[in-house]
Amino acid sequence: MKILFIGDVVGSPGRDMVKEYLPKLKEKYRPTVTVINGENAAGGKGITEKIYRQFLEWGGQAVTLGNHAWDNREVFSFIDQAKYLVRPANFPEGTPGSGIAYLKVNEDEIAVINLQGRAFLPAIDCPFRKADELIEEASKRTPNIFVDFHAEATSEKLAMGWYLAGRATFVAGTHTHVQTADARILPGGTAYITDAGMTGPYDGILGVNRDAVLKRFLTSLPVRFEITEEGGNQLSGALVEFNNKTGRAQKIQPILINNDHPFFG
Ligand SMILES: [Fe+2]
Repeated sequence: MKILFIGDVVGSPGRDMVKEYLPKLKEKYRPTVTVINGENAAGGKGITEKIYRQFLEWGGQAVTLGNHAWDNREVFSFIDQAKYLVRPANFPEGTPGSGIAYLKVNEDEIAVINLQGRAFLPAIDCPFRKADELIEEASKRTPNIFVDFHAEATSEKLAMGWYLAGRATFVAGTHTHVQTADARILPGGTAYITDAGMTGPYDGILGVNRDAVLKRFLTSLPVRFEITEEGGNQLSGALVEFNNKTGRAQKIQPILINNDHPFFG
């Protein structure tokens, strides 16, 4: 089986890329399931019900979130009914939504878990201990476990990869928006990449308008971060092939589509 993961979709440029390229990627790679990180999908911050439904219509099976999960207030009106919308599982108890979803594929299942790091991000529950808890729970149903670890620090993401080596099928880092060149299979058959990268504007700075980001760096004045509309767009992610009887990954391949890395069907 194969899991296709698409990294942080930023605003309408990112959504356009998913709409345009997900069918092409599906035709080329034939993933069993596709998971999309949608925490920046609504104008860069959060997600709406319409966008969640579009991701499923365009070919996704689950949508993960992160630190911007609550930034579009509409999420509160539908997250408890959205079975395939997964928010970080280590948010405090009483938080709406769920941190795990199960995707049914014929006789098999794939668990989709979302966790959030604590380095340079708000203090929440321990992602490592929460991972133990959820992997124990998921393992009773399926050996096929995907984890989107939404975190800022490379060290924390790598630590999670090694912590889950041999226990998860695929650990993908998200949040830092730049795809890392360290895709590998860790011992025990866990596919890993520190950051799957961002899907959205290619010529902004992490998806944001360059002038605003530069003004902030040059002057430290408060600026409004807006999604850049100029220039080309990109799609970033990774494809993992795994044995659905053992949950072990066999192969990981980064996916990157932009002006410098054109898509060949
Ligand atoms: Fe994020």
